[in-house]
Amino acid sequence: MSRKRARISALGCHVPDRVVKNADLEKMVDTTDEWIHSRTGIRERRRAEPGTPTSEIALNASRKALDLAEMRASDIDLIIVATITPDVPFPATACILQDKLGASRAWCFDVSAACSGFIYALTIGAQFIETGAHRKILVVGADVMSAIVDYEERSTCILFGDGAGAVLLEPAEDETGILDFYHETDGWGAPYLNMPAGGSALSTSHETVDQKLHFIRQDGRQIFKYATRKMAEAPQILLARHGLTAADIDLYVAHQANARIIDAAAQRLGVSPEKVVKNIERYGNTTGATIPLALGTALDEGALEKGDLMVLTSVGAGLTVGAMLVRWSGVPWK
Ligand code: UT7
Repeated sequence: MSRKRARISALGCHVPDRVVKNADLEKMVDTTDEWIHSRTGIRERRRAEPGTPTSEIALNASRKALDLAEMRASDIDLIIVATITPDVPFPATACILQDKLGASRAWCFDVSAACSGFIYALTIGAQFIETGAHRKILVVGADVMSAIVDYEERSTCILFGDGAGAVLLEPAEDETGILDFYHETDGWGAPYLNMPAGGSALSTSHETVDQKLHFIRQDGRQIFKYATRKMAEAPQILLARHGLTAADIDLYVAHQANARIIDAAAQRLGVSPEKVVKNIERYGNTTGATIPLALGTALDEGALEKGDLMVLTSVGAGLTVGAMLVRWSGVPWK
């Protein structure tokens, strides 16, 4: 079977309407706009109405991608959803999304790789295009982080936002598309960023709720150091494999966790600041959605054109590391 390169043929982004500004958080926890902006680069983030399932915002992003591609949901072969805030522990959010979309031909599953989820899911989807097994795949990164954030805990509640991004993968028709990927996992880092309760190790009980173990927990400093290093090292390994350097990249699209992490990683890799995509000021860290939302920002700003070479990179709970080399195929966009 001859291998075909996969390309991103459409992109759809969705964020909830409600804006939570730093000033709003000042009323909830002991913090300031100055502290949040100077330490993270975030000014505001979006928050879904309580009870909004991840499948709902994933649906909005998916419909946009399908509309732009003028593709019917019934044409989709496979749906992969990257999320750490599934509608319910099971079944997979991808199955719920399939039903809402009416994508009845598609088989579906979720990927749990936290902030690396979208790049991991894209890598998995690309394999099915490359082997020729499938021709139309929907990959979604979506998280309703507000469902698992403790709004009384100042070091985490300021960081996260809700959002969704969806792409369609199809066989490439030219030299553009997903060129290569590089991933790592450091399971020793699992304790640094997690949700302690609600799984088999510690099922939900009155006690776990009283102790707030159903919320996200992190060691911010450890994650900061790890992300700064890995979002430079992983792209570096990928570029070296192709005889490329940072100077050859047109765009550096990193997981939006903290503006200081993105800037430090880009500098370490040797990418000049004008090639760095950032929208964290407006959306905060939307976990599975940051990479597709950043692609949307690059398109809005006219910073991404067909033929551009870009590196996508991420670090997430796990700890998971993702990097992907993409020659942009161009997508319909408005
Ligand atoms: O997708 C991955 C998800 N996680 C991340 O990306 C997290 C990566 N880490 C970070 O972004 C940063 O570590 C944080 C933004 C979480 C924290 O920034 P930092 O510069 O590493 O601050 P710190 O944790 O060293 O804390 C410095 C001080 C502490 O006070 P003391 O102990 O020095 O008195 C914190 O209690 O800042 C305090 N602090 C705050 N102060 C005002 C922590 N959060 C806040 C806050 N407002 N929201």
